[in-house]
Amino acid sequence: MSLEMNHVYYTYQEGSPAESHALQDICLNINEGEFLGIVGHTGSGKSTLIQHLNGLLKPSKGEVLIDDIDINRKDAKAQRKERRMRVGLVFQYPEYQLFEETVELDIGFGPRSMGLSEAEVTSRVQEAMALMQLDYNALRKQSPFDLSGGQKRKVAIAGVLAMKPKYLVLDEPTAGLDPMGREEFLELLGQLHQQGMTIIMVSHSMDDMARYAQRMIVMDHGKIQLEGTPREIFAQPVKLRELGLDVPTLTKLLLELKQRGLDVRTDLFEPQAVKAEIMRALKAGKEQVTC
Ligand SMILES: Nc1ncnc2c1ncn2[C@@H]1O[C@H](COP(=O)(O)OP(=O)(O)OP(=O)(O)O)[C@@H](O)[C@H]1O
Ligand SMILES: [Mg+2]
Repeated sequence: MSLEMNHVYYTYQEGSPAESHALQDICLNINEGEFLGIVGHTGSGKSTLIQHLNGLLKPSKGEVLIDDIDINRKDAKAQRKERRMRVGLVFQYPEYQLFEETVELDIGFGPRSMGLSEAEVTSRVQEAMALMQLDYNALRKQSPFDLSGGQKRKVAIAGVLAMKPKYLVLDEPTAGLDPMGREEFLELLGQLHQQGMTIIMVSHSMDDMARYAQRMIVMDHGKIQLEGTPREIFAQPVKLRELGLDVPTLTKLLLELKQRGLDVRTDLFEPQAVKAEIMRALKAGKEQVTC
């Protein structure tokens, strides 16, 4: 079971002077249970790519499969619809899409439009709010517009989770949150992943990627330029810089120390590993001096 893109091309405004080849020959397989990070400089095609994963955009060429079914095929409409609903897509600044009078109605909108019973809708709203650590009794009757920015975002994401997607796709979900809100939100995503949800996250933060992604893709001009584990990706700082990107903060520190003459590895980014490596290098350096 997986999300699959096979030789996908996408062109905006084909044939017009403003034509833009936003995706070019994308081949990607996302396995169930994975945490995939998508990075790339602005305009590299990240948002365009993820909008193909639930059929919001249709490839100009190539195919997108959700659990082995081509979601843009002409026949089997009901099956295609069911497959698309397995993918929950959270746009950047999803709180702008809140529109109902109360939090409860907003989160219940998706499940209700799926034709579920009121009892099932309520239970889904409660479950989704619990996942997002929102207090059901305290917030259900409140207007979503009276909440804080961070709470609004959680409500918007709860609305997607209430559809019980198997794959959760998020476009820069921490953009605009303060450091605390950001940390709390990423922890929540980590928990959802540990509970078995497949997560696909677009982010400009290499630190977030280093902490959460199991695998990453790096995009540039509509193509996947690099693919691998965070360790494999962050071991290529020169290539990343060519692509307009950086390495995580602690990797940068190691590179800086190396430049200043300390013989350290530079392919690490976890705080404990970096600390241990610096201690090791300092100790080895001292031993050399005493010899
Ligand atoms: N509606 C549109 N019409 C025409 N061109 C578009 C449209 N949306 C995006 N593009 C172009 O497609 C390319 C990819 O855009 P996309 O939004 O996917 O990039 P991105 O990697 O998500 O960028 P960002 O990091 O800024 O969000 C860009 O060159 C962009 O100008
Ligand atoms: Mg984008």
